Amino acid sequence: MSTDVTAGRRQRWQRYWNRHAHSYDREMALLDRLLFRDTRRWVCAQATGQVLEVAIGTGLNIGFYPHGVALTGIDLSPAMLAIARRRAHELGRTVDLRCENAEALNFPDASFDTVVCTFALCGIPDHKQAVAEMVRVLRPGATLLLADHVAAAHPALRAVQGLAELVSVPVGGEHLRRRPIELVRSTGLRIVRHDRFAAGIVERLTARMPSDPVPQREQRPFLPWN
Ligand SMILES: C[S@@+](CC[C@H](N)C(=O)[O-])C[C@H]1O[C@@H](n2cnc3c(N)ncnc32)[C@H](O)[C@@H]1O
Repeated sequence: MSTDVTAGRRQRWQRYWNRHAHSYDREMALLDRLLFRDTRRWVCAQATGQVLEVAIGTGLNIGFYPHGVALTGIDLSPAMLAIARRRAHELGRTVDLRCENAEALNFPDASFDTVVCTFALCGIPDHKQAVAEMVRVLRPGATLLLADHVAAAHPALRAVQGLAELVSVPVGGEHLRRRPIELVRSTGLRIVRHDRFAAGIVERLTARMPSDPVPQREQRPFLPWN
């Protein structure tokens, strides 16, 4: 895809999330209660050290991180980030918030102990590239924590999700049948914890980067989609 098309697409979704920022917390509160359960707590409790949260949105996870982590959050939408900034201030938490693209992270290789991404890979246009970028910035032995809504376990429900995507993808960029765990498995990271519930629609996982020293380019995990 040409650079212009990619940039145009990114701007479109940036505008979309800017428009939705004011209603996001209200809508998400319902989904958190009905569908995602304790997932924010489950994910954040496992974060340690220097943490990067990718597509941090309005910062709904901020209050769940243990004190003592050094949190950096990136997102495409300045309006979502403005709410995250206010939330961090209200919670008395220091967070380095930056407007950035998950598909091309502006951090050196191997720079974080933990990378977190919740409920965002469903909407990032090139989610494979976003996962590759998350893996790139993990240090040896570091942890990747992902949670999202995914393809249902039952074929009939997956077919319904396929129909719903006819609307959700063009209108909101929302993919309902992705499975980030398959991408993570193919990178060579080891899945150390994994939960799937709500008819298989919600999936959360903890994966670990091998701790072999010197992750030189040829020794990095194999990313088959590259
Ligand atoms: C459904 S919200 C999830 C927010 C947050 N992770 C949460 O758990 O509540 C999706 C977020 O992904 C962000 N996003 C979408 N595409 C992105 C990209 N290419 N790079 C960075 N952020 C992106 C949107 O701006 C939005 O804030």
